This record gives sequence, C-alpha cells and structure tokens, in this order.
Amino acid sequence: MTLEEKVGQLVQVASATEKNAAATDASGARLTDAVLARIRSGEVGALIGACGIGNYNLAQRTAKTSRLGIPVMVGHDLIHGVLTQFPTPIGISCAWDTNLWYRAGRLIAAEAPLKGCDWTFTPMLDIARDARWGRIVECAGQDPYLAGLYAAAMVRGIQEPVGGRRMAACLKHYVGYGAAVGGRDYDEAEMSVETLHRIYLPPFAAGVSAGAFTVMPGFHSLNGGPCSANRYLLTDVLRGELGFTGFCISDMGAVWEIGPKGHGIARDAVDAAAKCVNAGMNMEMTRRSEFCFSEGLAQAVRAGRVDMRTLDDRVRDVLRIKERMGLFEHPFIDEKPAVDLEAHLAFAREAAAKSVVLVKNAGDVLPLAKTAKVALAGRFADSAHEMRGAWSAYFENVRNPSVRAGLAAAEMALAETPAEADVVIACVGESQKRNGENRSYADVSFDANDLAVVREAKRSGKPVVALVFCGRPIVLTELVEAADAVMIVWNAGSCGGWGIADVLTGRAEPTGRLTVDFPRASGQCPIFYNRMATGRPYGSGRFCVHYEDVPFEPLLPFGRGLAYTAFAYADAHAERQGGRVLFFAEIANVGKRRGTETVQLYVHERFTETVRPVRELRGFEKVTLEPGERRRVTVEAALPVGDYEYFLASDSRADGVRGEVK
Ligand code: GLC
Repeated sequence: MTLEEKVGQLVQVASATEKNAAATDASGARLTDAVLARIRSGEVGALIGACGIGNYNLAQRTAKTSRLGIPVMVGHDLIHGVLTQFPTPIGISCAWDTNLWYRAGRLIAAEAPLKGCDWTFTPMLDIARDARWGRIVECAGQDPYLAGLYAAAMVRGIQEPVGGRRMAACLKHYVGYGAAVGGRDYDEAEMSVETLHRIYLPPFAAGVSAGAFTVMPGFHSLNGGPCSANRYLLTDVLRGELGFTGFCISDMGAVWEIGPKGHGIARDAVDAAAKCVNAGMNMEMTRRSEFCFSEGLAQAVRAGRVDMRTLDDRVRDVLRIKERMGLFEHPFIDEKPAVDLEAHLAFAREAAAKSVVLVKNAGDVLPLAKTAKVALAGRFADSAHEMRGAWSAYFENVRNPSVRAGLAAAEMALAETPAEADVVIACVGESQKRNGENRSYADVSFDANDLAVVREAKRSGKPVVALVFCGRPIVLTELVEAADAVMIVWNAGSCGGWGIADVLTGRAEPTGRLTVDFPRASGQCPIFYNRMATGRPYGSGRFCVHYEDVPFEPLLPFGRGLAYTAFAYADAHAERQGGRVLFFAEIANVGKRRGTETVQLYVHERFTETVRPVRELRGFEKVTLEPGERRRVTVEAALPVGDYEYFLASDSRADGVRGEVK
C-alpha cells in the first residue's frame, strides 16, 4: 500500500448523494461523483450516512475498481431500530432482559441493509447519572453491571454472522461522556482512575469481551485529556487492559476539535492527526470540510511525527475488521434482502410492553377492566411522533403508534369526556425533541401545563392514570401525588400504542424496572443509587449527609417497578460454593394476578482497603408466578471473594431482605 492508500483507509466521509436520473437506488438518489472519485482513488475507506442498497453496492463496485480493491464500510446511527423502532435505549434497558436486547441487536442487523448500512454506531454505553444530560436517553442507565449485560447482548445481536457477512457494532462514547460537568453535553469530565474503572469502564469491557468491532471515543476531555487523543485511554486501557482488537472511529469532527478552536492541544491538521493516531485513534469521522487525516496525516508521517509502524498498525486494525465482517468475500448487499417486517412489529410491541415501568397504582386502578370507558387527556394522547424518541431517522415500519390507536385496537370503549368515562388516561411528560444530543437542561421539572391537565382530570372525580413520555428522569414529585397511577412509557417505538395498551389492559403485565434514579428535584442531579459509603450517614438529621429542603433519597429509585400483584420473600440466605457465592430465596405470589418479579441482588463489600458503594447490583433473576405459587430462586452473584452484606430487593415489599455473606 502507498502512504496515501494507507491514509485513505483511515478516512470516513459523508455518503453525499444527489438526485440523479442514473440513480441506482429506489430513493432516486445517487452517490455524488466526488464521493465516488475519492473511493475510486483509494482516498476513502468508509462512508457515514445510510445511502440505500443501490448506492451501497455502487460504492462497493467503485471500491473494487480502485488499485487495491479494498471494500468500504458504511456506518450510521441505527440506535433503536431502523425502519422498525423499538423503545429508546433508556426505555428498553428497563426490561432487564438480555434476550430482548440481543434480539434488538438482531433487528438492527436485519434491517440495516435495507438502508445500505453495514455498521451502526451503537450500543451507547455511557453511564448516565445526571438527568440534565440529554443523551441519557441513548444509554442503558446508571448501573455498570446491567449496562455491561446490555452491551454484550447488543454486540452479539448486531454482529451475529448472516450469509458470510457480519455487521459492525460500535461501543460509544469512550469513556465517561455521561459524567460531563453540570450535565452539559460536550463539557469536561473529571474522575478518579478508581471511579473510571469501577463505574464507567465495565460496560465497555463487556462490549469488548463480546467482540465489538469498533469503539468511538467521545468529544469530551477526561481528566484534562481529550478522549480522541488520549493515549492512556485509547492504548493503555482500551487495548492494554481490555484487550480490544478492533478499531477506533472518531466522533464527527472530534479530531478537528482538539485543535485551536476546540481543546487547543493541536496547532493544525498535521498536529491533530499525529496526536490522535499516536494515541490510538484509527479512523477520522469527518464533518463538512474539516479533514485532518486526509490533509495532514501523510505529512505527519513524512515529517517523522507518526512512525510508519504505528500507521501500519492503525490500518491493519481497519483491514482486519473489514475482513472479519466478510466484506472482501461478500462486498455486496442482497438487492432484495428478506426481512420479516411483520415479525419486527411484533418484537417492537413486545419491547414496548416490557419497557414500561409502573411506579404507582393506588387502588389497583390498573389493569383496566374490560368494560371500562376511557377518556384520554394530555398532549401526547394522539401522538405517533412522540413514540419515536431521539435518533430515529426512519420510522417507516409502524403500527398503532399512538395511545388512542392502541386502546382502540384493544377494543377499549373511548369516552369523549371524563364525565362519561370510568377512568382518565393522561398522556403527559417531556417531548422527545427535548432529549438527545446537545439537549442539556438545568431544570428537569415536570411540565406545568401537563400537571394542570392531570389536576383538572382529577377534579372529574374519576381515577387518573398518568402515562409519562420521557427520555430522561424528569421530576415527577407533584405528578405522583396528583395521579392515582403512574406508568413511565418512555418513547415506545413503532408499536408503542399497542404495547402500552397491552399493559394497561392486562394483556401483558408490567415487568419493567427503572435503570436510573428519578430525582425529587433538579438540584439533586447527579443522583445514583450506588453512592459511596460516607463517614456521616445519609439521613435527615443534623450532621447527616442530606439536603435541608428535600429528602436525600430519589423520588423513584433504581430498580423500582410494580407488578399487578405482590410477592413475599422467605428463607433468604447465601452460600459460598468454591469461588462462587449463591443467594437463595423463596418467592411467593401473594396477590390475585399472575406476575413477574425481578429479584435483584445488591451487595456491599465491607472492611475493604478503599471505600466501597453502599450497594452494588450484582445479579438478578426474573420469575413469573401464578397467584399463590411459590418458588425457590437462586441468584449467582458476580463477586470477587470478600466479606459482603447483601440485600435482595423487591418492590412488592418495601423492605426487601438483608443478610450477610460469610
Ligand atoms: C454525533 C454523535 C455520535 C454519532 C455521530 C455520527 O455527533 O456524538 O453519537 O454516532 O455524531 O452521527
């Protein structure tokens, strides 16, 4: 390979298209001649932006005509589905279901070819503890252990071989992006190396262990070093400690951003290219005309700023992944891929039902009686758009997306007014346009108009069920007081109305559990359950860790989620078997309806060298029981040997069960 060809493999440009009579794609658009020329000359190794099957295959045919014939990759943000959207990541994370997450990855991989993509910039694994940060919608919550299970399941689903090809997943944004100061997107993050390893790295470690092909460093600086040029993170930790063997793709324009107009650690394109490549970055995702690698990397090599062996290593990582994706043997996408969109709708419906979290159900308002007349209220009652959620570029395979359509499909009688109804369902919360990238808010209070709608509905004298659409843990303190039942429905996707109606009517039961703390007030952010033990206890008395104006606990804690029944725990104990620690309990369904309990195991390691969190999730088991049924449940804890106090949590019992592991 020539120096220019090596650099070309490290450059990703936009898959710019134009309307063209000679279009090769059903969309009527064709890759521009400029893009095709850069592929043909070997100046470009990857594209960003779904360009359709025809243009994908045109790009690969063009790549074949280059001197070396190396295939290109085409990546896009296919975050929670493609044509079929399942709930946003923060929503589907509340399913606590690794098989569901794996199937979600399979859906993305099955539908991506329809848009001409072989690479998706997902799963996003940023641990998010701050509701002010808009990108919390894109992540799997605040727990490292759970986010690690999510990471591995999504990577396996996305990258499963099909017909000799494998799609590439991308672990992002490496690392600590969710710890941005003040919850402000793109701002700096500061943390100890211990916190980095205990909280923010584990999901990436799990994704790497699952074989993720690519990693995307974040825009931010961590402890003063921009992630894009941070050798400690990209080489010592990612490759040295975690054993990553794929390649790093920069975030869009992030190489340019270490320069004079951004982080200020590079003088120009040559300097930025050298610093990033030497740190461990492989490929530059360019933005508009901000090209550092193509304008400066060859010059950096010639000037001895980048050793040729280093460059060869970066290129070899990319070629190895293209080879492992099967692109050399099978560069083309089947022009008519067989995708079962009906089956994907069924998955979207199932995922929507499993993602909702019931957090209040006073007087067993839910599930709705079959004969109940329902009046709808609130600005989201008829909205399909609010089912999309952030990063839903396509929303084409859709069914019954609104709550009203879902209830109608469930043959519920809809009343015009609360006076004519037995129950009011208020569809309220936060518009999906308020979360996602660059959507940070200092105030995450509940919308005052929505609260007025709920209070007005209450004045009808009928029970009120509040369905909360949101992409972040907004403050629900007054809403929970005002409504009889509260169900968090997130942005529920292509079959959101159907899935939500399934739970409202009892066709499906509520099984979701929160993966983030919901604060009582914006001022509590960041708030997270796995806080460190402190010298002074948390509480409300003097000289305790507390606020003078609000209780310190969250309004709705991590792990919270109600069923339509109740469970009792008995005979909870732990046993050490060799290097394993097993926890046992007998769970009984003491209610009147079938229900699924998520038995959650938390541990606190005592008398250690360094301070440890008061509780850490280290295992869970879901168990479905008929009324009156009881079953022994075993939870194996992912634990190093130590002296632990444990806590089996259940929301059907406020106290849970505490014990000790000797
Ligand atoms: C964006 C996001 C990143 C995304 C990339 C490509 O700025 O930070 O998550 O994958 O650009 O769209």
